[in-house]
Parts: sequence; structure tokens; C-alpha cells
Amino acid sequence: MLIVSVTCVVGLQWGDEAKGKIVDLLTEGHDVVVRYQGGSNAGHTVVAGGQSYKLSLVPSGIFRSQVQCVVAGGVVLNPASLLDEIDGLTSRNVPVGKNLMISDRAHVVCPWHFDEDRLLDKLTGGEAIGTTLRGIGPCYRDKVGRSLAVRLGDMYREGFRDQIARIVPAKRQILAGLGATPDEIRLDADEIYEQYRGYADRLAPHVADTTAYLLDAVESDKRILFEGAQGALLDIDHGTFPFVTSSNSSGVGVSSGSGVPGRYVTKVVGIVKAYTTRVGGGPFPTEQDNEIGQHIRDQGNEYGTVTRRPRRCGWFDAVAARYTARLSGVDVLSVMLLDVLSQLPELQVCTAYELDGQRINHFPSHVDDLRRVVPVYETLPGWQEEITAVRRVEDLPKKARAYVDRIAALVGRPVGMISVGPDREQTIFAEA
Ligand code: GDP
Ligand code: IMO
Ligand code: MG
Repeated sequence: MLIVSVTCVVGLQWGDEAKGKIVDLLTEGHDVVVRYQGGSNAGHTVVAGGQSYKLSLVPSGIFRSQVQCVVAGGVVLNPASLLDEIDGLTSRNVPVGKNLMISDRAHVVCPWHFDEDRLLDKLTGGEAIGTTLRGIGPCYRDKVGRSLAVRLGDMYREGFRDQIARIVPAKRQILAGLGATPDEIRLDADEIYEQYRGYADRLAPHVADTTAYLLDAVESDKRILFEGAQGALLDIDHGTFPFVTSSNSSGVGVSSGSGVPGRYVTKVVGIVKAYTTRVGGGPFPTEQDNEIGQHIRDQGNEYGTVTRRPRRCGWFDAVAARYTARLSGVDVLSVMLLDVLSQLPELQVCTAYELDGQRINHFPSHVDDLRRVVPVYETLPGWQEEITAVRRVEDLPKKARAYVDRIAALVGRPVGMISVGPDREQTIFAEA
């Protein structure tokens, strides 16, 4: 069997690396685009034809109508949010019909998950995770816990009303235990059932066994593109736990989330910003909580796509990116938002850490160690030229090329694409 092209796009930092832009670009060479983890905590931006689109659950391949978009079983699905997204796209003349398929195995975000998310983030004491408050963690917790979970496929079964009626009293107790006031516990089983039955009716044309579909697709040589959400440093198992999301957001999540064995993936594209950002709590060794960070935030418009929170900004961390590139099996890098760094007189890149006076090259597994590391920086000269109109590597300022080459060398992977602006056109295809 010849595997034509099964590509995975994965963020190598703490999310928002501009995965949406690259997925949209690469969609041209693929038949199927798959979201396989995360949920409406994701906010992927695609800029096409001068129009900007924000996607949370719908795969970024939706703008090419011949492409089959799939939301696989590893995703946690907020039906109201998905329907809003479908309506928003349709109203802007982006067709969404049979070209969007949703797994009946996807777990459903229910009203109690939002309350749990909000109450828990306050309860933790110490530094909050600072979640997106989209119910993601609580929904994944119920998936793993099993007894209180709802899958999309359940919503079409006769027992769905009873399932909700059974879960609601348990959730009332849980919410009370988390400190919710009686007023806050507004769960009405009948109302929730009716509301979710309504969502189920509207989503019915899209619902399918996507595992079966994808296994058929790989076996019939369809070209598949997996669209990672979040970034590898937010991976539940391999990221900066507990300041992570609740799914496997590094490359390792593809097979569990989609049902397609990892051995079918022929290419992994690792997406990095030319610097680093993070939203929410947790250590961030190269953070620049100063005028440099503010400059990057202003130039890069670094405010959350989902929550509009200002993103924390800092220098490129090659220790972290090397770790996540290896973890995700990355073949080639895309370096994004390079234009944001134009005009800074000099740039710093973190090449190693110092932990308790010892130089280390690995990414610490415990968050307390990561908190204590001191970045070792290499200083590179900045460039002052505007680069947003550059389309060929050889037309980049020498110092910008040297900066990208240094990132590639430190991460240990070649650079295949360089992005100099949000638009599809603002992309340089480098030789990798
Ligand atoms: P994602 O979640 O990884 O898809 O990334 P987001 O959409 O949350 O954030 C990336 C932001 O950067 C979006 O607003 C993009 O439109 C924008 N963007 C993408 N590539 C570039 C680039 O090369 N330069 C600049 N200035 N902005 C970019
Ligand atoms: P995309 O796909 C950046 C962060 C949150 C928080 C932590 C846990 O657009 O790159 P959660 O709501 O998932 O329980 O929050 O993870 N986070 C993201 N940060 N980009 C994202 O998605 C993110 N999704 C979650 O800010 O720190
Ligand atoms: Mg985003």
C-alpha cells in the first residue's frame, strides 16, 4: 500500500502558533482535514481573500469545499458553539454541509462543565491554571471517569432523557461541593434534555463513525491532514503539568484522538512562532514582562483569539522547542510571525537553562524545576527592514535569515515555511 501523504500540523509551544494559517495553506494538497483533540478552547485564525475567520471546532480546511473536514472522537464538543460556528460560516458564504463530519464518539460539553471549570479554577489556591472556561477539563474528566459522561452518539438514543436525569442530581452535589451557591446550581434535567435534543437534530446530518471513515481513508490512499489544537507544551502528559490542557496536544495525540495508527503519518510539520507566547498561568522561562514583551504584544496583536486575554510574550525558547519537536516526531518547522520581530535592535534566543547553577539542555519534567531555571541566552542582531512583502528566502534581510537558520540549528529541524503576515500570500516556502 502506498501512503500518499498523511500530514500532521502541531504547535510546538503553548498554543496560538498560527496553526490555522498553515493548515489552510496545506489543505490544498489534501483530501481530508481532521481535528482530533481539544475543543472550543482552540481559536484558529484563517485569513483568506482579505477576510479573517476564527475557528474553534470546525477544521481549518473548511474553506475548500472539495475537502472533507472531520471532527474526530478525541475532540470534546460544545454543540452550541459548533452550531454558532457553522451559522457564522454559512452567513459568510462558506458552505458547511456534508463536507463536515463529526464523530459520534466525541464527548459532549454539558452546562455543568462550564460551572465546574469556573469553580475549580478559583478553588485551586496558588497560581490558577487560567483555563479558557470552556468546560474542557471537566468534560475530559467525565470522559475518563465514564459514569457521568455524554457522547454525541448518546444524544440520538432512546435512553438519552434518562441519562441526563441520572447525571443531573450527581452534578448538583458535585457543584455544591465545589462551593456553588443554590442559585448557581440551575440545572434542570428536562430543560437540558430538550436543549440538547435540539442541538442533536441540527447536527444529525454531520454525525458519523469517523474512526471507520478515517481507517477507510488511509487504506484507500486519501491524503489526510491532521490539525493539532493547542501546543505540545500544553500536552496533558508531556507538557508543563498542571498548567496544561486536558488532551494530548503534542503529536502523540493523533492516533488516540482519531483512531488512525501513528504509523500512517508520513510527515509532521511543527509550528513555532519566531518568539514565544503563553496564555494563562504556569512557568514561562523566557517571558519578557517588560517593554520588550509589550512591544511584541503590540506588533503581533497578541491577544487571545478565544478569550481576548493579553498573551504573555517572550523570547524564542530553543530548549522547549527542541523537546517538543522530538516528542512530536517533527520533520520540518514552520516559523511564524517573523515580521513581528522586525525593528528590534537585537534578539535573544534561549539555548540552554541553568538549574541550581548547573547548565542543562533538557526540558525539566517537573513544573517546580521549570520555575527555577534561568535561561541562557544567545544574542543575535535584529533587522530593521519591513519584511511583510517578502516572498522568497533570498529576499529576506541577511540578519532575518541568520535568525531563522539559528532557530533551525538549535531545534535540530529544517525550516520549510516562514510566515511574514497573516494572509495566505504572506508565506515564504523555504527549502527544507
Ligand atoms: P492558532 O491557534 O495556532 O491557529 O493561532 P491563532 O489564530 O490563535 O493566533 C495566530 C495569530 O497570528 C492570528 O491572528 C493570525 O492571523 C496571525 N498570524 C498568522 N501568521 C502571521 C504572521 O506571519 N505574521 C503576523 N503578524 N500575524 C500572523
Ligand atoms: P489554540 O488551538 C493557547 C490554555 C489556556 C490555559 C490552559 C488550560 O488556539 O492554540 P483549557 O481551557 O484548555 O482547560 O485551558 O491551556 N489554552 C490555550 N492557549 N491556545 C490554545 O488553543 C489554548 N487552549 C487552551 O489558556 O492556560
Ligand atoms: Mg489560537
